[in-house]
Amino acid sequence: MLRFDPTPVDAFIEKSALETLRPRVEAAHRALIEKTGAGHEFTGWRDLLLSPNDALLEDLAATAAEIRERADVLVCIGIGGSYLGAKAVIDALTPYFPARRGDDAPRTPEILFAGHHMSGAYLRELMAYLEGKSVYLNVISKSGTTLEPALAFRFLRQWLEARFDDADRRIIVTTDPERGALNQLRAEKGYKKYVIPPDVGGRFSVLTPVGLLPIAVAGIDIHALFYGAVDACRRFSGTGDNPALDYAARRYLLHEHGYAVEVLAVFEPRLAGIGGWWQQLFGESEGKDHKGLFPAVVQYSTDLHSLGQYVQDGKRLLIETFLMAEHDGGDLPVPATGDNLDGLDYLAGQTMRHINRQAYEGTLRAHVAGGVPAMTLWLDRIAPGDLGACLYFFEHAVAVGGYLLGINPFDQPGVEAYKKEMFALLGKP
Ligand code: PA5
Repeated sequence: MLRFDPTPVDAFIEKSALETLRPRVEAAHRALIEKTGAGHEFTGWRDLLLSPNDALLEDLAATAAEIRERADVLVCIGIGGSYLGAKAVIDALTPYFPARRGDDAPRTPEILFAGHHMSGAYLRELMAYLEGKSVYLNVISKSGTTLEPALAFRFLRQWLEARFDDADRRIIVTTDPERGALNQLRAEKGYKKYVIPPDVGGRFSVLTPVGLLPIAVAGIDIHALFYGAVDACRRFSGTGDNPALDYAARRYLLHEHGYAVEVLAVFEPRLAGIGGWWQQLFGESEGKDHKGLFPAVVQYSTDLHSLGQYVQDGKRLLIETFLMAEHDGGDLPVPATGDNLDGLDYLAGQTMRHINRQAYEGTLRAHVAGGVPAMTLWLDRIAPGDLGACLYFFEHAVAVGGYLLGINPFDQPGVEAYKKEMFALLGKP
C-alpha cells in the first residue's frame, strides 16, 4: 500500500504551523467529502469509487477482449485528461520492451495516441504507419468540441472508412451522455459508446471508461487498478491516518512560504507517465488567481545530469516530491569481471535496485542539504492496485490543496484564453 514520508520536509516547516493549519485542512477535507466546496458538482470521481459499478468494469473488459483479439493497433484520440491517465498507467505497467515473437505472451495490440497536439507531420506519419494493420479507434472527448482530437478523428475516421468495411464497429466513442458532436456522429453511425459521467472532470476521469478502456486493451487488470483506488478512497475518507492531507498541508505551507515550483521526481522511468498525469492534475487544478505551485516532472537519475544542477544549486524556489516503489523489479545483480578494469568491483553482487535506491537516498540528502524541502510517496510495488491508490491519493490531495488556496480545483477557466485567440485567427464562425 501507499506510505508517505514527510520527514525531510518537516525540517523546513514549523511544527506549530502544521498544527495551526490542521483545522483548515480538516475543513477542506470535509468540504470535499460533504460536497460543500467550490466545484462540488464535479466530485463524482469519488462517488464512482464509493459505489463501484462492477458491470461496467466487466463490459469494458469484454470490449477490450474483442479489441485485443482483432486489432494490431488501438489509436486513442484525446488530449489532457482524455489521454494522460491512460498513458500514465499503460506506461507504468507495460514491459519496457515487447515480448519476442513466439514467446508465450498474450497478444496485445500496440496502443498509440493521437489528437494530443496539432502536428500534421505526426498525423501523416501515423497514418502511414497504420497502413496494412488492423486498427481500432477510441475517440475520447467529454465536450466533443476540443479541436485537437476532433481534427485527428476527422483524419483517422476517413482513413479507417476507406480501408475497412466494418469501420463503424472499429470506432468506440467515449464522451458526455448527451452533449457534443461525437454524440451526433455516434447516433448516425451506431458506434459503441462509453459515457464520461457529467460530474467527473477530464483530469479526474482516469478511472472512468476514459482511462479504463485503453488500459484494459493494454492487458492491465482494471479491476485491481480500480479497487486499489476504492481502498484508498475509503482509507482517506477520515482525517486520521490520511497521508493525502499530510501531503496537501505541507505543500500549502511551503507555497505560503514563497516556494513556487514542485518537482515530482521518479527513479524508475516507467513512472514518468504518472508524473505527466500528476502535472496536469495539479497544474490545471491549482494554477488560478495567481496562486499554486508550478508542477514539473523529473526522471532521475537521467535528469540529475541536467536539471539536477538547478535543483541542487539554482534559485531556491523548489520543493521536491519523490515517487518511489519499494519493489521496482530491478533485482539484477552487478556481475563480477575478475579483472576489475572498469573499477566497479565494489558494486559486484549488489543489485541495480539497491544501487538505484542509494541514488535516491543520496539525492534526497543532497537536495535537502541544498535547501530543497523534500518528501516521498512510496508505492509498495508498481502494480495495478498500488497505482490505483496513488491516483486517488493525488486526486484527494489536489482537491484539498485547492480549497486551502481558496480556489475552485475543478474548473480550468485559464485554458479558454488561448482558444479564443486561436479560433479568432482561424476564423471560426
Ligand atoms: O481536465 C480537463 O478538463 C481538460 O484537460 C480536458 O480533459 C481536456 O481539455 C480535453 O477535453 P475534452 O475531453 O472535452 O476533449
